[in-house]
Amino acid sequence: MTASEIQIHDKLFREYIPENALHDKVVELAGRINIDFAGKEVIFVGVLNGSFIFAADLFRRIKLKARITFIKLASYAGTTSSGEIRELIGWNEDLNGKSVIIIEDIVDTGVTLEHTVDNLIIRNVKEISIVTLLLKPEAYRKNIHIDYVGFEIPNDFVVGYGLDYDGEGRNLPAVYSLVP
Ligand code: XMP
Ligand code: MG
Repeated sequence: MTASEIQIHDKLFREYIPENALHDKVVELAGRINIDFAGKEVIFVGVLNGSFIFAADLFRRIKLKARITFIKLASYAGTTSSGEIRELIGWNEDLNGKSVIIIEDIVDTGVTLEHTVDNLIIRNVKEISIVTLLLKPEAYRKNIHIDYVGFEIPNDFVVGYGLDYDGEGRNLPAVYSLVP
């Protein structure tokens, strides 16, 4: 185990996206959103748990008239997607006619994202945009366009900066990738 490696439960992870690169990307994404939505009122919808750190860092750099709310979904058990979504905290904000920006930590197969988008469509929002810190293009199976992608990453399990392996690793300031 080297300095950039950490052990969580039974698995070894290696630093993959350093803290300063995450910081720079958040600044870049917020800047793009501030320009694209200038003069508009937006509601951000963060998807818990994984997005909470990215959402906090992104949201504090948003200069628009903006609100934020969270939904809580679970689809993962261990390091593989179960494909089945459970809604643990639902929708409690009136989103009718609003410009909504979904905040995801990571889009893998896209099942979670599709579930979220479908739920916004039936709530008659005006427009839906999506920002995700990470995208696994090789795993993505949906046709939903993702407006803002921080990093495209290989189809490897990652932890840190909000993402967990069985509940742990969320407090790591960098993103770490599973060592096979
Ligand atoms: P889907 O397959 O629905 O998955 O796009 C999205 C959700 O699954 C979690 N996820 C991960 N969590 N490391 C994690 O800690 C990963 O590599 C990973 N891939 C997917 C995450 O909660 C995401 O919202
Ligand atoms: Mg998770």
